[in-house]
Amino acid sequence: MKPIRKAIFPVAGLGTRFLPATKAMPKEMLPVVDRPLIQHVVDEARQAGIEHFIFVTGRNKAVIEDHFDRQFELEMTLRDRQKRPELKALAEDLPAPGTTSFTRQQKPLGLGHAVWCARELVGNEPFALLLPDVLVQHPRGCLTQMIEAARTVGEDANLIAVEETPAERIHMYGVVGVGEPHGKLFSITRMVEKPRREEAPSNLTITGRYVLQPEIFGLLAAQKRGAGGEIQLTDAMIELASRQPFYGLQFEGASFDCGSKVGFLSANVAYALARPDLAPAVRGELARILDGNRKI
Ligand code: G1P
Repeated sequence: MKPIRKAIFPVAGLGTRFLPATKAMPKEMLPVVDRPLIQHVVDEARQAGIEHFIFVTGRNKAVIEDHFDRQFELEMTLRDRQKRPELKALAEDLPAPGTTSFTRQQKPLGLGHAVWCARELVGNEPFALLLPDVLVQHPRGCLTQMIEAARTVGEDANLIAVEETPAERIHMYGVVGVGEPHGKLFSITRMVEKPRREEAPSNLTITGRYVLQPEIFGLLAAQKRGAGGEIQLTDAMIELASRQPFYGLQFEGASFDCGSKVGFLSANVAYALARPDLAPAVRGELARILDGNRKI
């Protein structure tokens, strides 16, 4: 496959599940430990070699653009106070000048529509798509694993990260049907967006990381409404799968659906426990809280 240089981050969602926290602040800026969700996901893309970061934003999301810019007043204050490690960390987090693009999804018409809004910025090359609701905790990151696997298949292949999900949560995701294995990948025979439990083709759900061919944009242009009345990416992928190969990768690592409160809280605990500077204290606090609950 051609090198994957560009990644789309759809960040236009309203975050209604996190109200009132998301009334004035985008959900993508909610912190997991001390980094906003979107920063974790951009880090994963940078680690995978992505060179251009395309954000599909909406109204009230300007702070995301500010987050990926310099903050001179803050930098000056840190410099005056000799806070060198903090200054260095801020500089390292920042994508290089000219490597970010922002476009707006003017109406909340669904994930498929958000991806379509990035068509001019992506152009005619395969690209990565990362949904910032989903965090994958793994030293190499999920997208790196996908791009490595993409090298083992043809030029026109599409890849989706998938994982096993308990039956009671299946209806919340896209679900795939499993075909022939290809090394670490397997070919995808079916895709269904948010099926009823008894209609799901397997227990493997789509995890929010994709490597897609640009032909998806032509299919999304038809703007057909699917599950929930939204323009679904999965529906366009189903059509693309009749023309191009689609593969699933059961990636290594733990995923957290930060679009749900429990997933978001679990991510905070897991990421804190992975930090040597925080883990001992957090472990102690968790034990104290759990112990206190037992006594109630
Ligand atoms: C989207 C996709 C779905 C996928 C999910 C992963 O759904 O449409 O196929 O399984 O992300 O989080 P959403 O969570 O936007 O409803």
